[in-house]
Amino acid sequence: MADFVGAVDQGTTSSRFMIFDHDGNEVARHQLEHSQVLPRPGWVEHDPVEIWERTNVAMQNAVRRAGIAATDLAAIGITNQRETTVVWDPRTGQPYCNALVWQDTRTDRIAAALERDGHGELIRRRTGLPPATYFSGGKIKWILENVDGVREAAEQGHAVFGTTDSWVLWNLTGGPRGGIHATDVTNASRTMLMDLETLDWDGELLEIFGVPRAMLPVISASSHPEAYGRTRTSRPLRSAVPITGVLGDQQAATVGQVCFGAGEAKNTYGTGNFLLLNTGTRPVRSGHGLITTVCYRFGDQPPVYALEGSIAVTGSAVQWLRDQLRIITDAAEVERLARTVEDSGGVYFVPAFSGLFAPYWRSDARGAIVGLARYHTNGHLARATLEAICYQSRDVVEAMQQDAGVRLDVLKVDGGVTADELCMQTQADILGVPVSRPVVAETTALGAAYAAGLAVGFWRDTDELREHWHESRRWQPQWSDRRRADGYAGWKKAVQRTLDWVD
Ligand code: G3P
Repeated sequence: MADFVGAVDQGTTSSRFMIFDHDGNEVARHQLEHSQVLPRPGWVEHDPVEIWERTNVAMQNAVRRAGIAATDLAAIGITNQRETTVVWDPRTGQPYCNALVWQDTRTDRIAAALERDGHGELIRRRTGLPPATYFSGGKIKWILENVDGVREAAEQGHAVFGTTDSWVLWNLTGGPRGGIHATDVTNASRTMLMDLETLDWDGELLEIFGVPRAMLPVISASSHPEAYGRTRTSRPLRSAVPITGVLGDQQAATVGQVCFGAGEAKNTYGTGNFLLLNTGTRPVRSGHGLITTVCYRFGDQPPVYALEGSIAVTGSAVQWLRDQLRIITDAAEVERLARTVEDSGGVYFVPAFSGLFAPYWRSDARGAIVGLARYHTNGHLARATLEAICYQSRDVVEAMQQDAGVRLDVLKVDGGVTADELCMQTQADILGVPVSRPVVAETTALGAAYAAGLAVGFWRDTDELREHWHESRRWQPQWSDRRRADGYAGWKKAVQRTLDWVD
């Protein structure tokens, strides 16, 4: 029996391949960034061919670094940035245009028209999502309407859609000569086109969006022994390894954090933040601005659902300090800069670059920095940026507690930003709840590996996976209740400014 499981993690800023052993420990990885194409305010694109090429190289290099053969991999899982929309010609494997990234707001008119034309309620009820620029349905519609020849091609079966899991899967299993065109329930649940209860594409929604059914991938379970085929025997692995797990990155992180019971939650700190609460086998509807999504489905077992608080801009606000304002040269420097001051000095930064997602859902909101005096420095702005990450998380924790009627007693965290000690301490202070990080902070790739490994019997069941989870660090709240309440009240006022800007 092969001793390892591999996972592709196709994220917003990079693609990586990671290899895990039977105890869930990392054996090797390789990761490559891809370009962020920003042609106009609000537009965010990726080049799908670049993504595939980099994924390819990452897979080859990780296997080489591990010192193993591809045949030592029992299975491979794929996890991905969700919603990002690729449309390609299945005859040539060429995309018709760059991928429209989940952060892209060019479809704001489409989202507004869905509400105006009275489709909002149907979309919410059937998909668990509010009409917003975030999700794939509007992005497919935009491509059909704006990229020359795509509508006609789609009607003749010459244009297909996929999120980046499907794109990578299609290339891994066959490439230009035709791979497997599939996705899993978690990714499909982010399109505004899938019925949350039947777990199938919904005819009425397809009509509203004008999307031909033939464009869409087959929807399968997140962990399945056959649905996703095997890697082709050419590049990158030159071996037919079974692909048996596919799920969106935030759902994968929930699996990697072993949140298998209703009531268990995790918060991932990446480009954005995504807090998911496992709600069990029935979808729970939010009354406070969260979305309802599929958490995972293992084989033929019933699907498990989650309530999700999606925040568009957290880690990418730090990148903005680096790339646009250039007040730091690498992301890790933000902590050092923030530590040059005691506190944010009353400055609040609301990084509403893609509008505001949960719990506000305002595509038209725009970013703001408020409370500035001549006294303030880069240090205050750095600290306000870290606080913005934490205040946005508090907004979704508040919503989740109201929806679920429970109080969180610890927040499980993961993702790149959790290496920032100051940010994690600030999170505990702003929430008034301890924050706990596991030993393996790469929970996204780990979750995809778990889904793949379960399907081939590499791991027995979820109880076995629970035994792999160990805490590495816990932060306790230190602020007084008074400071916490005042700080949060200031944040709410600052958010209101970003909404007033467009009112
Ligand atoms: O919904 C978007 C999310 O899946 C992106 O995650 O980690 O690539 O920023 P990440």
